[in-house]
Amino acid sequence: MLVNRDAILEVARQSEDVDDGTSSHWRPENQVAGEHPLKNDPFALTYGAGGFSSIGPIGAISTKTGLLHRTAHRILQIPVRNIGRRFNTFGEIDRSAATIAKRQGRAYDKDLLRHAVTLAFLRDRLDLESETDPIAVIGDGFANMASLILDNLPQSQVILVNLTKTLLVDLAFAHKALPDLGIALVGDADEMCEALARSDIRIIAVKADHAPLLANIPVALGINILSMMEMDPPVTKMYFDALRQSPRTSTAFYCCNRIEKQLPDGTMTRFFEYPWHPDDEILADEISPWDKFAYRGRPPFYYRNNPVQHRLVRLNKISRPTPDISFP
Ligand SMILES: C[S@@+](CC[C@H](N)C(=O)[O-])C[C@H]1O[C@@H](n2cnc3c(N)ncnc32)[C@H](O)[C@@H]1O
Repeated sequence: MLVNRDAILEVARQSEDVDDGTSSHWRPENQVAGEHPLKNDPFALTYGAGGFSSIGPIGAISTKTGLLHRTAHRILQIPVRNIGRRFNTFGEIDRSAATIAKRQGRAYDKDLLRHAVTLAFLRDRLDLESETDPIAVIGDGFANMASLILDNLPQSQVILVNLTKTLLVDLAFAHKALPDLGIALVGDADEMCEALARSDIRIIAVKADHAPLLANIPVALGINILSMMEMDPPVTKMYFDALRQSPRTSTAFYCCNRIEKQLPDGTMTRFFEYPWHPDDEILADEISPWDKFAYRGRPPFYYRNNPVQHRLVRLNKISRPTPDISFP
């Protein structure tokens, strides 16, 4: 099992692989051509003017961090911060997000803020403080959610599952934010078992093609934000199945995605057609309050997003088709 620097370098080496579960939205032919910006040095974060457009639509990271830009973000973030204050832990998560952004040399932007509010919401609804089983973040991107979880829940272990090219971005940003945390790259059940047993490993990186490994481990909470809306429906089903099969009495799942989205090849993804089960216990289900609008740096500044639903459930469990593997 590769750990720490070697794990990141191995993902960099594989960063131009195209995972089987890649939808048309993320296929290289629909991206700006070019080498992966972190392939040669994932530790420098010198990704240049082209940003990450050669990887796909993972959103922009602004490195403009002067007083003027920080003030502008701060003012434009007032409405979302007001929503965040409804949750007890938002203040501490907000401060940790600011530190993370600073360490990464980037702005504390609207994307990081919505992840901060989401984590505060999840801590309000679930007892994550005393949780010792891993949290799986599927399709993170810049490790926004993973870094916040790891920084705010000191006993947590996070499984980062992503397309290989984006997994590299996740690992590079997580490492920059929290350089002392152990990282493992796992590709099979034995490596997963080893990584889970090691208290020095807090980040377990899994390429999307190995995502079915989630079915063999006790996942406390799965998180998917603005990501299943860009997956082919059979891939979404695989993630639901894996989390349902995860060997724990209760696995929570937070899903926050556009109600409807069309992918470049015409595939439609629809939130209400994801493989929900009538016996999923619904803890929250509404249009995500902090995703209703977003801001940009020119008048009229605020704009309406396409409707995004968020739903927090305790998944109805199903038994695993494969024999038990024993995990610590
Ligand atoms: C629009 S970005 C959203 C990133 C982040 N969650 C957010 O809310 O800003 C979509 C994410 O889904 C990931 N993704 C796409 N297909 C995936 C798959 N089959 N398995 C895991 N992640 C996938 C992408 O790599 C990317 O990180």
